[in-house]
Amino acid sequence: MDATQKTFYITTPIYYPSDKLHIGHTYCTVATDAIARYKRLTGYDVLFLTGTDEHGQKIETKAKETGVTPKEFVDRIVEGDKGVKALWQLMNISNDRFIRTTDDYHVAAIQRIFRRMYDKGDIYKGKYVGKYCTPCESFWTESQLVDGKCPDCGRPVTDAEEEAYFFRLSRYAEPVRKLLTETDFLQPQSRVNEMVHNFLDPGLEDLCVSRTSFTWGIPVDFDPGHVVYVWVDALSNYITALGYENDRYDDYAKYWPAVHIVGKEIVRFHSIVWPAMLMSLGELLPKHVFGHGWLVIDGGKMSKSKGNVVDPYMLAERYGVDALRFFLLRTFPFGSDGNFSNELLLNTINNDLANDLGNLLSRSTAMMEKYFDGVIPAQRADGAEDAPFLEVIHGLRDRYAAAMEQFAPHRALEEVFRVIQRANKYIDETAPWVLAKDMEKNGARLAAVLYNLLESCRIVGVLLTPFIPESCEKLFAQLGAAPDVQTWESTAVWGALPAGTSVKKGAALFPRLDLKRELEELEAITEAAKHAAASPAVELEPQSPENVDFDTFCKSDFRAVKVKNCTAVKKSEKLLCFTLDDGTGTDRQILSGIHKYYEPEMLIGKTLLAIVNLPPRKMMGLESCGMLISAVHKVDGQEKLNLVMLDDAIPAGAKMC
Ligand code: ME8
Repeated sequence: MDATQKTFYITTPIYYPSDKLHIGHTYCTVATDAIARYKRLTGYDVLFLTGTDEHGQKIETKAKETGVTPKEFVDRIVEGDKGVKALWQLMNISNDRFIRTTDDYHVAAIQRIFRRMYDKGDIYKGKYVGKYCTPCESFWTESQLVDGKCPDCGRPVTDAEEEAYFFRLSRYAEPVRKLLTETDFLQPQSRVNEMVHNFLDPGLEDLCVSRTSFTWGIPVDFDPGHVVYVWVDALSNYITALGYENDRYDDYAKYWPAVHIVGKEIVRFHSIVWPAMLMSLGELLPKHVFGHGWLVIDGGKMSKSKGNVVDPYMLAERYGVDALRFFLLRTFPFGSDGNFSNELLLNTINNDLANDLGNLLSRSTAMMEKYFDGVIPAQRADGAEDAPFLEVIHGLRDRYAAAMEQFAPHRALEEVFRVIQRANKYIDETAPWVLAKDMEKNGARLAAVLYNLLESCRIVGVLLTPFIPESCEKLFAQLGAAPDVQTWESTAVWGALPAGTSVKKGAALFPRLDLKRELEELEAITEAAKHAAASPAVELEPQSPENVDFDTFCKSDFRAVKVKNCTAVKKSEKLLCFTLDDGTGTDRQILSGIHKYYEPEMLIGKTLLAIVNLPPRKMMGLESCGMLISAVHKVDGQEKLNLVMLDDAIPAGAKMC
């Protein structure tokens, strides 16, 4: 690698592996990938980082519900079948590095980073009293809540109090304000106003940066029992992945500072907390944070419970990776929210890719084959139609680059497609099939027309490479374009495709879709997903692998019992005390921890099933002689319990066998 080559470091957020990733995550990663590929194309030595943010209470809780350890849980989502890494591979993401916050080198580096801020006096021990939003892993003060709910996600919060470490965010309020208001650090500009108005103007409070209420995190090494707040752990990934405070990599001096591409809901962490942490550490600040918009469905958030989460796997497998990549970046202005719909996806594929780009390439290559045996002629004659057409192409590269530099991939694509549409119009204006009627007279003119078309295909092909890399390879193969005419530099040269090049029409890059049929099929897939979301996930205890011999089983004495009385046991939240008729003429007392599921009066008179030859046991000072039998299972992670109820016609004492 050339030592003088300019470097460029770009990152996506590190996603939570609490669930399968969806089209929103894919949108951000594909956009970042297109920018990274563009920078490589223009000659930069690029490091593109993505990864997963694996600690925190949400993941700990999810793992518990699933009955596995947190590490097993995240391993499955990150490394497993259709996991995070597999999705990025499928989507042709060109990341150079993938960080997991459970990686050893990151864990050790975080402990050092935390200690450095502590030694500097920027982290101190205090007491946290406030509100906590579990899904967002965020503590809030009363005044920050919106209608009593989490200001980020709108969900209910709970009371929280714990001894904790705090980061002196308030100390950095002024330099952060300057950074946001006096530089182009945070983009687009609308995000600056949000940050200043919502967070800086009301005053920055110190940030709680350790937790004691759960254990799935990086321990504070000098105070066991505290784990590092997941956002301090997560934000630091951008430097630990370069080797900051660790020996795993040695790229910090070379690549830092970065450009961070993030969704709008985490701009607060990236543009306020993260710069303040870096100021505390005495490090350079990121070059830019770009807060992109959300993909929404029918104007609202995608959610698992609504069953409207769009699956990138299914779409990429159905329509092709490039079609999906292109759709995401062509359709939605990157800084704003966009409404995802199947119609929009299918129409974009048909109009832009199959019609405009696909037709331009297939018509141009087909005519070169038909009229010149597929070999580009040297003899060419200019015509009156050329200048207005070439004028649109002239400056395309600069307009495209300006858009990409401003994190506006949708504008870059708009520029490219303006040229593609103009090229199709040029075909109509020049009518090559008419020229071909008299080759002797018009041969050189026809050659020029077709050359201009192929040359414009070549230039748009180079500029589309960051967006649809695989399709552009096919396009270059059809044009017969050698590597030296696929470069960024070659897009500044009109006429780089040499005479004598062999052109070969190939298969359609993007076959046209049957809109009606595809819409119906996608609708059916969505309905099935909604249905699956509406039917709760039931979990059953695994069956015991161990056999019990028949004689042992026969020793268990199961009897029908009738509930004569049932009361709640004082001072116990769980226990009910049953007085039962077991057919012996003497009342039997059984205690059962099922108050969560039944009120005592509901059960009086019922015929239940009990095992009556267990040794007596004392609970809360009362004797329990036997056990009532229930059926247990889980629905959506919640335990459900039903007492086994027998037909009331069965007499008390009847033996079950
Ligand atoms: O916030 N539309 O992770 P996360 C567009 N771990 N983009 C979307 C989206 C949508 N509907 N949904 C998600 C976290 N995204 C933290 C980040 S970084 C140090 C830690 C994208 O899994 C968007 O980029 O919740 C958003 O910011 C990110 O996924 C959040 O992913």
